[in-house]
Amino acid sequence: MCYIRGLYLTPFIAIPMSSDFLPLQGIDHVEFYVGNAKQAAHYYKTAFGFQSLAYAGPETGMRDRASYVLAQDKIRLVLTTPLQPVSDIAAHIFQHGDGVKAIALTVPDAASAFHETVARGAKPYLEPHTRRDELGEATFSGIHAYGDTVHIFVERDGYSGPFLPGYRAWQSSYNPPVTGLRYIDHMVGNVGWFEMNKWVKFYAEVMGFDQLVSFDDKDISTEYSALMSKVMSNGTGKVKFPINEPAEGRKKSQIEEYLDFYKGPGVQHIAMGTGNIIETVQSLQDRGVEFLHVPTTYYETLTDRVGEIDEEIAELGRLGILVDRDDDGYLLQIFTKPVEDRPTVFFEIIQRKGARSFGKGNFKALFESIEREQALRGNL
Ligand code: FE2
Repeated sequence: MCYIRGLYLTPFIAIPMSSDFLPLQGIDHVEFYVGNAKQAAHYYKTAFGFQSLAYAGPETGMRDRASYVLAQDKIRLVLTTPLQPVSDIAAHIFQHGDGVKAIALTVPDAASAFHETVARGAKPYLEPHTRRDELGEATFSGIHAYGDTVHIFVERDGYSGPFLPGYRAWQSSYNPPVTGLRYIDHMVGNVGWFEMNKWVKFYAEVMGFDQLVSFDDKDISTEYSALMSKVMSNGTGKVKFPINEPAEGRKKSQIEEYLDFYKGPGVQHIAMGTGNIIETVQSLQDRGVEFLHVPTTYYETLTDRVGEIDEEIAELGRLGILVDRDDDGYLLQIFTKPVEDRPTVFFEIIQRKGARSFGKGNFKALFESIEREQALRGNL
């Protein structure tokens, strides 16, 4: 094999070098800014089965914050809290409540990721820089996304420590078992009125993503509440970001409620994949995770809508798990209630059995459930 001007040549086939200017290896981690990281870490361990991975704070030379890193299979959450009142972190929490600050993406070259995206119009957040400790080095850069959310590019090939330079392993004597969560399937952003296409364009032009599927407010509306949504995916399909904007309904859209309480655009939900949703959801419910309820009538017509499935419908009904089918197969999914007092960020648990879509067929049942909660809060 020889290398000529961007092509690897073999005697019979030419494989072009990736034309992907932003090769992404996956979601590296998700960083939340929270009011009390120590207690939030306890919640994600106890309720969701995350494991203690790493810690950074004053003891490790980080003077202004404490960060707890939790892991479950491929998912890494970083929970960061400020130690002083005047800081960007404190301001973020004051404005948004607990929420996602950074969606970090693993890349082979963080400097290139920065320069390529900034050249295409991204607003710089973090100039490329390298951090080192005795276990190696990692390079970071970052750009702004919707609202105060940012994307951090992480180049970690040269690092062998538990998380990243500056963090030490977090040994805890409290280690609840995992719940079977394996990977982040997708992360959804809520953006403002009429801003969806602006952010679709951002992911297409600045990050080289493609649009997967779209549905409009005629698809996703109930009597009261509506939204529009488009799904952006990177070339490998490993990173998928649906973008929602509110749509006009008779009463306040659930997206609008989010925007009112998050005080602007931000991450609405993180969907985490499992290989056995029944076991995972049973375990999460046993540990106190609160899910949205769907009416029992949903299950009466389920087989008509999705055909034969492997799971027992009575069991899905008992746990409140939803099912949807597309051309490639089916998926099972369930949504938690918001995990903080502001009605903002929540989680989805998803198991894919071939299906590559996002559960559009469940949106109506789901929205009606969300609206019952919204009405209880007086926000409908
Ligand atoms: Fe989702």
